[in-house]
Amino acid sequence: MIEPLGPRPRLLDRYRAFLPLTDATPALSLGEGGTPLVHLRRLGAAYGLVNLHAKVEGTNPTGSFKDRGMVVAVAKALEVGARSIICASTGNTSASAAAYGAAAGLDVVVVLPKGAIALGKLLQALVAGARVVAIDGNFDAALAIVRELAAGDDHPITLVNSVNPHRIAGQKTAAFEICDDLGRAPELLAIPVGNAGNISAYWAGFTDYAMAGIVERRPRMLGFQAAGAAPIVRGAPVEQPETVATAIRIGNPASWTLATAARDESGGRIEAVTDDEILAAYRDVASLEGIFCEPSSAASLAGVAKLARAGEIEREAFVVAVLTGNGLKDPATAEAQAGAAILDAGASVDAVRRVLGW
Ligand code: F0G
Repeated sequence: MIEPLGPRPRLLDRYRAFLPLTDATPALSLGEGGTPLVHLRRLGAAYGLVNLHAKVEGTNPTGSFKDRGMVVAVAKALEVGARSIICASTGNTSASAAAYGAAAGLDVVVVLPKGAIALGKLLQALVAGARVVAIDGNFDAALAIVRELAAGDDHPITLVNSVNPHRIAGQKTAAFEICDDLGRAPELLAIPVGNAGNISAYWAGFTDYAMAGIVERRPRMLGFQAAGAAPIVRGAPVEQPETVATAIRIGNPASWTLATAARDESGGRIEAVTDDEILAAYRDVASLEGIFCEPSSAASLAGVAKLARAGEIEREAFVVAVLTGNGLKDPATAEAQAGAAILDAGASVDAVRRVLGW
């Protein structure tokens, strides 16, 4: 008999010392965290990098990094007796809120930009029983609405967008895991930027580890926005953000100042990548590495590709690109980008040989 694996350490137990938990915080877990750090040898070779890694966050319970922050935000909401939670979302936050809210027995309301959410994410929220409100407006409008609803006291409800500090606290754990796996911090951390909570969370996580003396140095932070939704790069909000990467289709990020602080304190940069560059990285990481991520996630690799080709990343540099969500969430983009056509054949060995050209 092979030794049983034993229970997986719970994220909140593992990093308890760095999280805002008390003895009164209820235990809650869907198995979040502990995601793989994968050495991308083939894609790295294509980019001219030998130490390129991906933090594959699509293996979280609801298929995105949001679960790390949501588990903390929902546990803290339970701790103070909340009965309901609300968020605006481009899809992943709502999927995560719906799942953790369901597990905690809370009412969940999600407010989404109509027609702009990838199908898988929308279905995750609906199947988990959240009340889904689709507005005639974009994410920025949805966020403004839920902030006002949560601030009013006629209908008590906890806001679980990343303006809730417990979300950022939980998301820091991904930075801890990267350092624990590498035995050091990477030199460069590449990450997509939408509402800008995650880049802020990673920077806070690397800073916690550096302050605790666990790592000597912090990485340079490389944030990437989609060119049609790049307010931080332009230095002004974008009224009508547009990109195939719907998760980061955001024109006025809530954590703007934290993100630019992470960039500046780390000596990093926040740049734009085009939809074509994003989709090329999306196809390449799937076909060269077997990792199916969503388009927004591929923005991190698209940015690394661009900087590496411009000679701005050293060949030996330790680079970690965060792949924030699972490719299964967005079947429409996958269908449009799928390289190979389906070969139709009759049900015989000969017919299959024929279409294969054998
Ligand atoms: N990647 C994915 C897959 C996302 O869903 C998001 C954000 C980001 C990157 C950007 O992270 O906002 O912290 O800068 N999704 C949010 C949502 C906005 O509602 O699901 P960020």
